[in-house]
Amino acid sequence: MDKAALYAEVNAQLAALFAEETNGLANAANMCAVLCHGLPHLNWVGFYFIQGGELVLGPFQGKVACVRIALGRGVCGAAAQRGETLIVPDVHEFPGHIACDVASRSELVVPLLQNGQVLGVLDLDSPELARFDAADCDGLQQSCSLFLQHSDLTRLLG
Ligand code: SME
Repeated sequence: MDKAALYAEVNAQLAALFAEETNGLANAANMCAVLCHGLPHLNWVGFYFIQGGELVLGPFQGKVACVRIALGRGVCGAAAQRGETLIVPDVHEFPGHIACDVASRSELVVPLLQNGQVLGVLDLDSPELARFDAADCDGLQQSCSLFLQHSDLTRLLG
């Protein structure tokens, strides 16, 4: 199956889940499970939400992760500060990359943008070099839009 078809399937599953629920914590947790089990070659999928001006770990699937990340630090902090999706083909080449799982070789981070404001990030790690491309970027930005449209994040932000 090509990536566009895979993301169409995964995002249809997310839309169906979110149609039944608006709890932001529950939707974030289920989104991690759908992505982690539905997409190949990943070793970490999770959320960070902005609290007190820094990124704080939210629901995830994978190994224990760094809990707090300052804006501008690592791939997640850079994506949140710039409000831009970042694709890092080789994390060892990214200055300041934060290694939570030594198996991670490439990474994609999508900022959660609502009305021009960054609320957090979705972070995906892969044990493969250059795992992520423009099709992943499009598919995951769509996943994040669905999540933001249907989820009440009031209790996750601060
Ligand atoms: N690698 C990320 C930190 C989060 S973990 O990968 C789960 C970064 O550099 O921001």
